[in-house]
Amino acid sequence: MGGGKRLRDARGEAIAHQSGVSCFAEYAVVDRGSVVRVDKDVPLAMAAVFGCAVMTGVGAALNTAGIRPGQKVAVIGLGGVGLSGLLGAKLAGPSVLIAIDVNPAKLGLARQLGADHAIDARDADHLQQVRDLTGGGVDVAIELAGSIPALETGYGILRTGGTLVTAGLAPAGAAFPIHAADLVSREITVKGSYMGSCVPVRDIPRFIEAFRQGRLPIDRLIGDHIGFDAINQGFDLLADGDVVRQILVPHG
Ligand SMILES: NC(=O)c1ccc[n+]([C@@H]2O[C@H](COP(=O)([O-])OP(=O)(O)OC[C@H]3O[C@@H](n4cnc5c(N)ncnc54)[C@H](O)[C@@H]3O)[C@@H](O)[C@H]2O)c1
Repeated sequence: MGGGKRLRDARGEAIAHQSGVSCFAEYAVVDRGSVVRVDKDVPLAMAAVFGCAVMTGVGAALNTAGIRPGQKVAVIGLGGVGLSGLLGAKLAGPSVLIAIDVNPAKLGLARQLGADHAIDARDADHLQQVRDLTGGGVDVAIELAGSIPALETGYGILRTGGTLVTAGLAPAGAAFPIHAADLVSREITVKGSYMGSCVPVRDIPRFIEAFRQGRLPIDRLIGDHIGFDAINQGFDLLADGDVVRQILVPHG
């Protein structure tokens, strides 16, 4: 955080600390602001996913969107962040919870994790399917795919008074159309969510406690534990959508 670089590559060149934590390094000196204490009985491999995917997804649902019991909710994009968002939304007690993706395997997993309906965004009539299931659209759409088409889906399924929350990171500079009059005549809200609007020292222990109580089954998102030798294949699997989350175990 102070700008110092304490990591070196094999040639001795200084390299930056990714996101202030250097999570692909075996050891790192980090700013105290990047550290959250967790109880010793929480396995580190489990705690690891709470630092980004869970904080972003669950936080987007609970903090940024502030879903209230009985609301109609859709989550668009079902990677590690999106499925965490789905579990977070479930925790808030919606009357209808809809999962949307372009990957049938993700839709199946979302159903197992508690989605009431799973919709394939490749269906030409997917917006209408959501409107039909919800009697006119959702109160809250949470975009966690990081793509413009996903944002357009989220915007297109809002009911009057609805809120689109986006924590997916669309490509820098990309834009998506909003009908300006909708903001007024339909009271549509569009809200961004950085790391789920979380305060890490407050929210990570809170989310871990929900996991311990069985109310946030994040363990169901975790696939293989891999070492550094498999990190590149791990990224390929992630990019192909074949896994949700893998745990990199530096000393495994
Ligand atoms: N806001 C933040 O602070 C923050 C933090 C972490 C990650 N992110 C962003 O969140 C996004 C999701 O991260 P992830 O690790 O879960 O990614 P991921 O690639 O594992 O998952 C993305 C999912 O979106 C689906 N998808 C793609 N196009 C879609 C569409 N048009 N409609 C519906 N679904 C679609 C994919 O099939 C996939 O299941 C990324 O863009 C990432 O950069 C943001």
